[in-house]
Amino acid sequence: MNSKIKKIIKLKKNRKIICLTSYSKNISEIIDPVVDIVLVGDSLGSVLYDYKSTRSVTLKAMIEHSKSARYGIKKSLMVVDMPYNTYRNKIEALKNAKKIIKETKCDAVKLEGGLKILEIVEHLIKNKISVMGHLGILPQSVKGKFKYKGKKIGERKRILNEAILLQKKGVFSIVLECIETSLAKEISKNLEIPTIGIGSSKFCDGQVLVTDDLIGLNQTKIRFVKKFGNVNKDIKKSVLKFKKEVLSKKFPLKKYSY
Ligand code: KIV
Repeated sequence: MNSKIKKIIKLKKNRKIICLTSYSKNISEIIDPVVDIVLVGDSLGSVLYDYKSTRSVTLKAMIEHSKSARYGIKKSLMVVDMPYNTYRNKIEALKNAKKIIKETKCDAVKLEGGLKILEIVEHLIKNKISVMGHLGILPQSVKGKFKYKGKKIGERKRILNEAILLQKKGVFSIVLECIETSLAKEISKNLEIPTIGIGSSKFCDGQVLVTDDLIGLNQTKIRFVKKFGNVNKDIKKSVLKFKKEVLSKKFPLKKYSY
């Protein structure tokens, strides 16, 4: 376990943990001084490529975006999502996790799932790969509409049990996606490792959002996303100004020419 991961675990007792996504150097450079964890999430499939599901995201795409994101990260812990169909068994998972770490120099990988992936998680950790878990809505497994988790008693028990088992196997943190408030609180209270929530209430030990969503770069409307900015508007303004100055021959002036 590297020192950055130890620091993240310790934060659980001190303050909330800040995590955001990045798929490129420019975004990493902006968020790295502010956050604790930079996540190269496979959400890039829907955010950048308009895929209907994260299942279409390839290992190659994750590695290329992670390499770019890596250039802008100086201090944060860097976690990379293992995409769909890259961890169907222990051997495949270890081979692909090693490839991701070797090529992107990330600190850890994130895998979606509970009981079904316990053996795989154990195998990765035994082989010195740091793993972040992901419970609740599992976008790689969802067909159709996303529905929050933790409404039914059986489901609540299963998710809590999976969180405890993942911790036992050695994951250093777990993302809780769209988990009902009291369940997210119970899981966070019962674990020694931090939970990072997305749509899972303020009771998680940290929060993660997709950066493109929170800065208002895209127009998606999701219940758990608060738009903290409107970058879209700023970009439009700049682009229109550029157009106006080119049409009126105000740009480029001599000082922008050779
Ligand atoms: O893919 C992703 O960006 C994620 C976060 C939203 C947690 O898994």
